[in-house]
Amino acid sequence: MSQKIGVVGAGTMGNGIAQTFASKGFEVVLQDVTDSALVKGMAQIQASLQRLAKKELIQEANIAGILAHIRPTTVQADLAGCDVVIEAATENPAIKEQIFRGLDAVVRPDCVLASNTSSISLTRIASWVSKPERVVGMHFMNPVPVMQLVEIIRALQTGDEAYQAVFRLSEALGKTPVTVKDSAGFVSNRVLMPMINEAAFTLHEGLASAEDIDTVMKLGMNHPIGPLALADLIGLDTCLSIMDILHAEFRDSKYRACPLLAQLVQAGHLGRKSGKGFYRYD
Ligand SMILES: NC(=O)c1ccc[n+]([C@@H]2O[C@H](COP(=O)([O-])OP(=O)(O)OC[C@H]3O[C@@H](n4cnc5c(N)ncnc54)[C@H](O)[C@@H]3O)[C@@H](O)[C@H]2O)c1
Repeated sequence: MSQKIGVVGAGTMGNGIAQTFASKGFEVVLQDVTDSALVKGMAQIQASLQRLAKKELIQEANIAGILAHIRPTTVQADLAGCDVVIEAATENPAIKEQIFRGLDAVVRPDCVLASNTSSISLTRIASWVSKPERVVGMHFMNPVPVMQLVEIIRALQTGDEAYQAVFRLSEALGKTPVTVKDSAGFVSNRVLMPMINEAAFTLHEGLASAEDIDTVMKLGMNHPIGPLALADLIGLDTCLSIMDILHAEFRDSKYRACPLLAQLVQAGHLGRKSGKGFYRYD
């Protein structure tokens, strides 16, 4: 496949997506708003490739070639020649609306517009562009270079061409695509977040310690990581915001966020990224 891929946003997910495509030989244009975001994103890609080389999953000699496949830019119009653009910018509807309206004006009429959003309705995103049938969800998992799954989300408006293009693209990356209808949380977060939230409730109610709750799920259910440790990895603010979205969308009390989760976020204990969450990381 000799397609040119655009990636919007060079943060955690955007740089992982750019790395994954470049590693498979795709030409990638990586766009962000500031040079510093791009420098940081490219440094993270380089560090990730070096980690993979150390584990002998790629050859050290190939790193420069992979990096050369990625063209960083702050100019949105540089995405004009792309066949598929994947938006992986900050999870904020106002920011995404501005990006999609801008993309609509610069990309080719046959360019597929995908979003990596975790929680914003694809049907809503599609309503921001003049050809909504070309919008589709492409939900990668973190860290993108190692995680096997891509959730493909069909908005109400998604056309077969856009859907099939991202399905085939996911396969070309060596990933496993799973198709999901557009609905809050899709399948991944609809199942995962209530489990994490329930684990927080068991801690909140003093049923067991954080370590013991995680041990129950690891040894009893064969999960590779316990739900509280996983929440710390994802970020407690992200977990809380997804629970709030599920609650607002379905208006079902089973999605109410655990008060302990909300309190930890209020205290700035966001998990690994802040050094403290359900566990301490110092
Ligand atoms: N972090 C995860 O585990 C995860 C997993 C799956 C999906 N997602 C989704 O991926 C998306 C990105 O998340 P992230 O964790 O990489 O965020 P992040 O904060 O690490 O990165 C976001 C990047 O977007 C850039 N950006 C902001 N406005 C922009 C604009 N107008 N144009 C171009 N770039 C812009 C920022 O400068 C930043 O570099 C979100 O929609 C999120 O819901 C995240």
